[in-house]
Amino acid sequence: MMRLMLALLAALPLFAHAGQLAQVASPDGRNVVQLDINGEGRLAYRVLRDGKPVIDDSRLGIQLRNGRELLRNLKLDAQASSSFDETWEQPWGERRFIRNHYNELRTTLVETDRDHRRFDVVFRVYDDGLGFRYEVPQQTALQRAEIEDEFTEFAIVRPAIAWWIPAGEWNRYEYLYNHTPLVEVSQAHTPITMRTADGLHLSIHEAALVDYAGMWLRRSDGQRLRAHLSPGGVQGASVVVSTPFKTPWRTIQISESAGGLVESSLILNLNEPNKLGDVSWFKPAKYVGVWWSLHLDTQSWATGTKHGATTENTKRYIDFAAANGFRGVLVEGWNVGWDGDWFANGWGFDFRKATPDFDIEALSKYAASKGVHLIGHHETGCAVSHYERQLAEALDLDQRLGIDVVKSGYVCDAGQIERQDSPDGPVTREWHDGQWMSNHHLHVVQEAAKRHIAINPHEPIKDTGLRRTYPNWVSREGARGMEYNAWGDPPNPPEHEINLVFTRMLAGPMDYTPGVLSLTGRGGKEIQSTLARQLALYVTLYSPIQMAADLPEHYAQHLDAFQFIKDVPTDWFDTRVLNGEVGEFVTIARKDRNSAQWFLGAMSDRNPRTLKVPLDFLDAGTRYRAEIYRDGEGADWHGDARFRFKRETREVTRKDVLDLWLAGGGGQAIRFVPLEH
Ligand code: NOJ
Ligand code: CA
Repeated sequence: MMRLMLALLAALPLFAHAGQLAQVASPDGRNVVQLDINGEGRLAYRVLRDGKPVIDDSRLGIQLRNGRELLRNLKLDAQASSSFDETWEQPWGERRFIRNHYNELRTTLVETDRDHRRFDVVFRVYDDGLGFRYEVPQQTALQRAEIEDEFTEFAIVRPAIAWWIPAGEWNRYEYLYNHTPLVEVSQAHTPITMRTADGLHLSIHEAALVDYAGMWLRRSDGQRLRAHLSPGGVQGASVVVSTPFKTPWRTIQISESAGGLVESSLILNLNEPNKLGDVSWFKPAKYVGVWWSLHLDTQSWATGTKHGATTENTKRYIDFAAANGFRGVLVEGWNVGWDGDWFANGWGFDFRKATPDFDIEALSKYAASKGVHLIGHHETGCAVSHYERQLAEALDLDQRLGIDVVKSGYVCDAGQIERQDSPDGPVTREWHDGQWMSNHHLHVVQEAAKRHIAINPHEPIKDTGLRRTYPNWVSREGARGMEYNAWGDPPNPPEHEINLVFTRMLAGPMDYTPGVLSLTGRGGKEIQSTLARQLALYVTLYSPIQMAADLPEHYAQHLDAFQFIKDVPTDWFDTRVLNGEVGEFVTIARKDRNSAQWFLGAMSDRNPRTLKVPLDFLDAGTRYRAEIYRDGEGADWHGDARFRFKRETREVTRKDVLDLWLAGGGGQAIRFVPLEH
C-alpha cells in the first residue's frame, strides 16, 4: 500500500504553488490536496482536480475562548501517509456494499513559541472528494478547550452558483432552497451544493458530528466560505471538550455530474463502523398512520371530538396496514400533553401515558395479531430536558408493546430548545444543531438501541452519516417535507423535491412522507405535483422507512396508482443516478435488496420534458415486465390536469431505451419485474 502511495505521489505533475509542505492525492490521482505554512506560521490547504485549482489557499485553525487561538506560529513537526481500501456491507441502505478507498495524510503541527501546543490535521482524499479534521491530543498546555469557532475556510476558485438554505435564522432547516451566485450566500447550512461555471459540482458538508457543534458556512468575502459553529447556549463557547478530541470531518464532494454527488458514499465512509453489532432487528418498511388528517386539520392531536388517536380510528389504520402489506402504523396525538398550546411548550408531554380514548395495550395486541407494529411518537415541543427525564421509561413501554420505531419531534423555532440541568434549575436555550443537542440525539439513539428501537427525529440535527455507526438512527426530517403541502404558504414548488435530491439527501435518508395521491392540502389547496410524481418520490428520496402518507379513503380512490406504493421496497442492493441537473430533473434507478426487481423514479421541475433513458442498468440476459406509472396526456401541476395518469406495461431488456415524458411538476415510476425464462 505504502509503495503504491509513493508511486502515486511521484507521478503527480508539479504545481504552480512552490514550496508546499505536504501533499496527498486520491487513489485515481485526480484530486490533490496541498498544505502550506506562510511566513506568519499560518496553515492553509488547497485542492486541485486534474491539476486545476478547485479550492484556493484556505485557512485552518481553531479559535479558543479559554486560550490563544491555534492559528499562528505553526511548524510542521511530522507527516505520515497511508492508504486504505476495503469494502463494507450496510445492514440496510441505498446500496449493500460500499468501497472505502482513500489516501490519508496526517500532519502534526506544533507551535514554535510559548506553549508549544500541538495538533494534527488529517486529510483523507477519495476519488469523489475529501474530508479533513483536527485531532487535538491530550497535553498540559491544553487540557480543556472552549472552542469559540473554527477558522476553517473553503475558498472556491472558479465562479459558482449555489443551492443553499440559511443557517442561524428562525427556522431550523425547513426552507425552500435559494439558487444564487455563490457570492450572494450569507450564512448557509450544509450540505451546500455548488456548480462552477465550467460544470464542476461541489458539496461541502461534515461527517461524524459527535459531541461537537454543527458547522454553518458564513461567506467572508468573494467566494470564500468560513466555518461558523452553531452557538453554545448556557456553556458559552460553541464547543467545550477535554483533550484528546477530534472534530467532525469537514467534507468536500467533487463530481463532474450532479448525479455523482448523489452516488458518492464519502459521508458514510468517513464515519466509524457499526458499533451496535447485529441490527437485523430493524426492519426497513413502509408505514401509514394518523398524520395527514392532523395536518389537514380534519382531525386533531388534542383530545376532544376531533381527536385522531382514538382506539377506533387506530384500528381502522391497523386493518388498512394489514390489508395492504404495510408494517407500521404511526399514531400522533396518542399521549398526554397535546391539549392547549403545545407548539414550543412540551412541558406537559408524557410519553408513558396514553390519552383515555387510546387503549395502547389493546391496540398493540391487535396490531401484533395482524403482523403490524405501532410506531411511537415523541413530540417534545423542545422541552428536551423534560423528555430526557422520562426517556428510559418511555422506551421501556415501547419495547414492551412491540413498538420498535419511534418518530420524535423538536417543534420550536431555531435556538429555542429548552435545557434544564436540574429539575429546579433555570431553563436555558440551545440550538437544534449545537453541541448539547448533538449529544442529546446520540443519547436517545443509544438508549433506543439497547431496546432494539429505531429512531426517526423530525426537526432534528442534520445528518452527518452517523447511521453507519448507529444503524438504528434510520431516518429523519431536517428539510421542508410533505407537511408544507397541507398548510405551507407557499406549498412545495415542483423544483423543491429535485433540489432535495442534490442537497439535503447528500446527508442521508429523509422521512419526507410521500404518496399524497389526493394532491390536495388544507381547504382544497392544490399540491404542485402530478399523481405519477407522488409515486416517483418513493424511489428518488431515499429512506429505509417510507410513509404512505395519505388517508385510506383517498387511496381507495386511486387503487391503480396505489399499487406502486404497495410494491415499492425501502431497502436497496444498488442505486444509480441515470441523469439529473440540480433543481431541474432527475432519474434514479434502484435494485431491490431482497429480489431481482429494479425500480425507477424520475421527476421534472415546472417544465415538461422528455428524458431518454437507456435501460443498461438492468441485469444482462433477463427480460422484464416494466410496470410503468406515468403522467397521462395533458398532465400538468395545475388543476385537474394533476390527476392525468396512465398505467401501462411492456416487456424490456437492458438493450432498450425508454423515452420518459414528464409533465411540468410531473414524474414517472417504473417497476421492472424479471420474467420467467
Ligand atoms: C412536525 C413534524 O414534521 C410532523 O411530521 C409532525 O406531525 C408534527 N411536527 C407534530 O409532531
Ligand atoms: Ca417538520
